[in-house]
Amino acid sequence: MKNFISVDQLTEADIFQVLERAEYYAKKAIKLRQNRIFVANLFFEPSTRTKMSFTVAEKNLGLEVLDFHSESSSVLKGETLYDTAKTFESIGANMLVIRHRSDEWFKELKNKLQVPVINAGAGKAEHPTQCMLDLLTIYQEFSSFKGLNVVIVGDIKHSRVAKSNVNALRRLGANVFLSTAPGFEDETLDCPYLTIDQAVENCDVVMLLRIQHERHTNVAVTSNYLESYGLTKKRESKMRKNAIIMHPAPINRGIEIDTELVECSRSRIFKQMTNGVYVRMAIIQFLLEEWGITHENNFEKRK
Ligand code: CP
Repeated sequence: MKNFISVDQLTEADIFQVLERAEYYAKKAIKLRQNRIFVANLFFEPSTRTKMSFTVAEKNLGLEVLDFHSESSSVLKGETLYDTAKTFESIGANMLVIRHRSDEWFKELKNKLQVPVINAGAGKAEHPTQCMLDLLTIYQEFSSFKGLNVVIVGDIKHSRVAKSNVNALRRLGANVFLSTAPGFEDETLDCPYLTIDQAVENCDVVMLLRIQHERHTNVAVTSNYLESYGLTKKRESKMRKNAIIMHPAPINRGIEIDTELVECSRSRIFKQMTNGVYVRMAIIQFLLEEWGITHENNFEKRK
């Protein structure tokens, strides 16, 4: 048999030969898997940076990456997030990295999986690995968070980056401010609001956000957004001497930031992306150790 198109091609003896070989593999599963750790990247929303930097991080750590494209998966046939995650667990994934449009997708999985899960973005609510790479970038620059003035500028209401960063930065002792256009405020965040002109003159970190059009229902965006609420070259010239510009990206050049500032000397935007790989490596390793998953015993631990 050169190809396998139909079971009709197999004789009865062939059928039993295949079943016995498969049984042999099932019994040898521990040996088959003991030297491999699989990580599944399950992205149900678009991503360039997070997905690709997780992939690089996983490969740097010697892990096997299971890629997944929701738009060509059985999600289109109605499969739920839980059933997709459970499928990857069943076929041997040792860790799941998930991004989903729901703010609370992880509740659907809570206490139902025997593998670690990493949040790669939850709706408007949380983006913890972005936060960690932002913290690393700020820490590299200032060696401390205490007393730093950090302003998050832009579409706060629809931003999971803002939600994760506000809480973490405040815990670490930074003074966190927000600056935005009318309609983009978030009443759940208890931070003072500044105008963009107050923000640039008084802050050490100016963290810009894009307008998240995909999450808007009825918020109108003015045509002079950059001039009114964004970081123009004139405003950049008024920033503190050592202040830096950050942005989680993707960037909408010329809308929230003048295009010439994206790679200016104050910008740490591409540095953030580089740091994303290292932070994700550190988080994956942290979880592998917490779960006792190593190349020698990962199958044993899950039994
Ligand atoms: N910053 C960020 O999450 O980018 P992606 O949406 O491209 O992953």
